[in-house]
Amino acid sequence: MQETLDHKKLPRHVAIIMDGNGRWAKKQKLQRIRGHEAGIKAVERTVEYCAKTGIQVLTLYAFSSENWQRPALEVMALMKLLRLFLRRETSRLIKNNIRLRAIGHLQRLDPPVLAELEQRMDETSSCTGMVLNLALSYGSRDEMVDAMKRFYQEVEKGNTSAQELTPEILNHYLDTAGLPDPDIILRTGGEYRLSNFLLWQAAYAELYFTETLWPDFSETEMKNILLDYQHRERRFGMISEQLS
Ligand code: FPP
Repeated sequence: MQETLDHKKLPRHVAIIMDGNGRWAKKQKLQRIRGHEAGIKAVERTVEYCAKTGIQVLTLYAFSSENWQRPALEVMALMKLLRLFLRRETSRLIKNNIRLRAIGHLQRLDPPVLAELEQRMDETSSCTGMVLNLALSYGSRDEMVDAMKRFYQEVEKGNTSAQELTPEILNHYLDTAGLPDPDIILRTGGEYRLSNFLLWQAAYAELYFTETLWPDFSETEMKNILLDYQHRERRFGMISEQLS
């Protein structure tokens, strides 16, 4: 019999490194961009499934700060796809009560892409269900450096002092301020690394790696990962007996 999810034990925040679009395309003798197009379909499936299941925050690593170094044509195509996705998906986000949010160096995005993103975040701002958080032009080290700069600006203004800095206070200066830390970080595509993604926030995240290439990622696999998560014991540095 198929195991069912315990909705009381769901992760609040699922974060995904969507990897393997290029290899998926190569396997089918297609151009890389076709892999990204198929990747968008997997994004749509996953967003819908997570929202329906009751996940509170879904963060997707859609474009890293290092991805700017890819061939200009691929970067252009990815930006175009992102714009298309935003345009096409917004009505479905609103229908499913999903609020769009973004983290990363958004000012680096092409002005039309940034404008589209801001418009769509605005349009979904009163949605109260899942938060779909897109990491765009995102790098965790940049995020931490920016957070420290913002904190020290407050020190210079005399509003706080270095002694007052705690992990909780630093959280307020990160792009992810107000969001819970990810409970799960999942990476598709068979690589076993975090690639500068949510390094600070990952402190107690459960890590999942799957060989599945992102365009092949399905609702069934997501469900199996959530089931596996429910069987893991998260001790946060304590011992089993302390948890009960
Ligand atoms: C990694 O695959 C994927 C990316 C760099 C981009 C992810 C983008 C999408 C899934 C589509 C756009 C997303 C949204 C939210 C609109 P890769 O190209 O590194 O694959 P490879 O390792 O097989 O070459």
